[in-house]
Amino acid sequence: MLTIKNATTIHGETRDLHIHSSEDKTIQADGLTVLPAVIDPHVHFRTPGLEYKEDWRTGARAAVRGGCTMVFDMPNTKPPTFTADLLDEKKALIDQQLNEAGIPLRYQLFFGADKQHLNEIPGVKDAVVGIKVFMGCSTGNLVIDDDESLHAVFSIAARENMLVAVHAEDEHMIRERKASYHGEMNYHAHSHLRNVEVATTAVAKAVELTRRYGTRLYILHVSSAEEIDIIRTAKKDGLPVFAETTPHHLFFDTSAYDVLGGKAVVNPPLRDKKNREVLFSAIHEKIIDTIGSDHAPHTVEEKSKAYGECPSGMPGIEFMLPLLLNAYNEKKISLDEVVSLTSARARDIFHIPEHEDVVLVDLEKTITITRTVSKCGWSPYMGLTLRGWPVYTIIRGQCLNIT
Ligand code: DOR
Ligand code: ZN
Repeated sequence: MLTIKNATTIHGETRDLHIHSSEDKTIQADGLTVLPAVIDPHVHFRTPGLEYKEDWRTGARAAVRGGCTMVFDMPNTKPPTFTADLLDEKKALIDQQLNEAGIPLRYQLFFGADKQHLNEIPGVKDAVVGIKVFMGCSTGNLVIDDDESLHAVFSIAARENMLVAVHAEDEHMIRERKASYHGEMNYHAHSHLRNVEVATTAVAKAVELTRRYGTRLYILHVSSAEEIDIIRTAKKDGLPVFAETTPHHLFFDTSAYDVLGGKAVVNPPLRDKKNREVLFSAIHEKIIDTIGSDHAPHTVEEKSKAYGECPSGMPGIEFMLPLLLNAYNEKKISLDEVVSLTSARARDIFHIPEHEDVVLVDLEKTITITRTVSKCGWSPYMGLTLRGWPVYTIIRGQCLNIT
């Protein structure tokens, strides 16, 4: 049994916790606050095929350092996860890497929707957390850009009672906007080319498909006020629509291009400051359900390339919880909201069985970010000073000291 003595709850009470464990151990948690461990519903840990950017040994270390004990991994790997066999192969590789790391990270996988492999979906329904649809191209070449396939995915998912997670950016609009663009090709152009309308067009389309088929819809990385408006209406109408935002859309805006260059390039792109404020309001209003790190590492060399060559995505899992705890200290968000965003809503939406994983955080601890354990070796948050850090992550009864 693992005993945690004198932990503080988010409502300020002092408690002892008893967690099933193979070891007999007591942790003095005076001054530490206990939260459910983070569930990160959106990571790209790059296995198979892109392990030079990240793998599950380094990804799992980054996760537990961020107080996270469960991740849902995306299918845009090499090859993509779009058949039952590829899914099995991916799981075997992940298990091997986690075993080597000695970290029993909990994980689930998204299945990639691909035109040529839609017939594979029913066979994996109990083996995946949902179907991932890229409505616009991002890293890799998974994309569903025709209405017929999109309707098919939503209708199969509804029939099989599977959730559809959408990367909602409209591929045709992206192509048109790129073709007719005559401005300077710099990093700022990214937010212009893949503008808010590109996202809202796809979100509106996905919501209409849910209205038609009744499919459970999870909208990934919501980044703008206009998407929030559509989602608010969908929720009011009683549709099974859920929304995720990311740490980078909450804590960065387009001014980050001037500081970070290509490291600030993500899909969907960073928006202006006004949209960040709306995202915080949408958290208070419970329109946004979850936060996903969209941990999408690329090497420094790749991210240093000029716009057009530089891949989209940034790592984030290690610092997502500290960023939120810092926002709590700045009175931008409550601890109840932090718990709701980082675990409680994900548990409801994805039907995650109860477990005892927790994270003990020191809300006063102040650290300047100077290093990362992610294999890519960089973080967009480098140099940032945050107040509120995880100290122990407890996973399957195992206590990992992460200081
Ligand atoms: O910025 C992004 N990076 N957005 C995505 O949709 C994919 C991700 C990646 O895998 O690199
Ligand atoms: Zn992603």
